[in-house]
Amino acid sequence: AICRLFFITRVFMKNIVVLISGEGSNLQAMIDACASGQISGKICAVISNNADAYGLVRAKKAGIPSFIFERKAYETYQAMDQAIASQIELIGADLIVLAGYMNILTPAFTQRFAGKILNIHPSLLPKYSGLDTYQRAMTDGETEHGMTIHFVNEIVDGGSIILQAKVPIFPEDEIEDVIARVQEQEHRYYPLVIAWFCADRLKEVDGKAYLDGKPLPPEDYGNEE
Ligand code: GAR
Repeated sequence: AICRLFFITRVFMKNIVVLISGEGSNLQAMIDACASGQISGKICAVISNNADAYGLVRAKKAGIPSFIFERKAYETYQAMDQAIASQIELIGADLIVLAGYMNILTPAFTQRFAGKILNIHPSLLPKYSGLDTYQRAMTDGETEHGMTIHFVNEIVDGGSIILQAKVPIFPEDEIEDVIARVQEQEHRYYPLVIAWFCADRLKEVDGKAYLDGKPLPPEDYGNEE
């Protein structure tokens, strides 16, 4: 019976690979959500492009194998992404989660894993794609900011949107206040979206995101728990 249970979980549990570059607080939220059973999936590996990323410590503590691919070891981004892709295929990942991975993936990579890559971005896309989103939003005098979870395609921060969460920016805020407010939403919603994917509820078809067979609106301020 134990053998059969093992077989069933192996068949139904999705293999997740998480790509990081730094702190790994989103990785931690996923580790916790796998442990609590919110996500029916297994983080099989963590991949970092930065050997000093604190997320690697988190992976180690959770017993997750990690792999480092540093740009300086490769002649081109293409070569680096090819090496990462081969590693991911070796692992047999069903889902690739970008969690603060601060490299732009090559089109060859995003096309190879189309519909299987998720990213989280600290802005209400399509506003503030790219870097320094908090500073730019505050300099512009925005009264709200937020985060977007989306499928990844070859356009940077341009893939189909799955879920967005808004937070206020108050006049007296320091940048740290806004970062903390956005990250609270990230840690809450990224595990939820990954849980949807692992339960086969979330799919990308023809460049559009679907949940339970229904297209998600381009701006989706989801509140389903
Ligand atoms: C997250 O806030 C994520 O939205 C952002 O990096 C942070 C990583 O934090 N990602 C991007 O800016 C991608 N363009 P973490 O390492 O603590 O999860």
